[in-house]
Amino acid sequence: MSLSQRIFAHGLALGDDAQHRIYGDRKRQLFAGLAGTVVEIGPGTGVNLPYLPDGLRWIGLEPNPHMHDYLQERLTGRDIDAELRTDPAQNTGLPDACADVVISTLVLCSVPTLDDTLAELRRILKSGGRLLFIEHVAAPRDTWLYTLQRGMRPVWKRLADGCHPDRATGAALRRAGFSSVSFDRFDTGLPVVSPHVMGVATV
Ligand SMILES: C[S@@+](CC[C@H](N)C(=O)[O-])C[C@H]1O[C@@H](n2cnc3c(N)ncnc32)[C@H](O)[C@@H]1O
Repeated sequence: MSLSQRIFAHGLALGDDAQHRIYGDRKRQLFAGLAGTVVEIGPGTGVNLPYLPDGLRWIGLEPNPHMHDYLQERLTGRDIDAELRTDPAQNTGLPDACADVVISTLVLCSVPTLDDTLAELRRILKSGGRLLFIEHVAAPRDTWLYTLQRGMRPVWKRLADGCHPDRATGAALRRAGFSSVSFDRFDTGLPVVSPHVMGVATV
């Protein structure tokens, strides 16, 4: 357990209210009507849990143990059959075709290898299962913002627990072998990581 992971966990918790303001309406739309087994990668402090219905089986894959107390607190009193693990998204340790839904919000920017991770998520999803995502992504290549994202990447990765500000996550999702991928682009106005995608990839 590193000091930087501890600091990152507390910093993330401080941003929870802002997250609800920025993403709340989109999460209500994206997570509506979920049922069955949901695997959430990198759930952080549990900022998505208020948007998930009771009655789910929820498996949280959160490698940073400093997030776990926050998650346990948010799970308390909920009728969610929860299992919290430290396995990373690129190597979940879960069986093939065990999940109806995988959730990823602001995590695919941080996984070490995006293509391998998407292959792993596809493996654990049932046929017809869905990966639901909200991710910040690289700005278009011919923009000053992309140049800024590339230039800041080394420092940003250090400060933000491995996050790549310039990842072409939408393109990676399209080539990852899902039967369908659809997403909308939107801007949050956040510095450096304003461009986002929100959508669904179906196995
Ligand atoms: C920016 S935070 C986002 C947390 C939460 N999903 C949210 O929307 O606020 C990134 C999260 O991904 C986790 N993470 C980093 N690398 C990971 C990996 N390889 N597999 C799974 N989670 C990872 C971090 O510990 C952190 O909780």
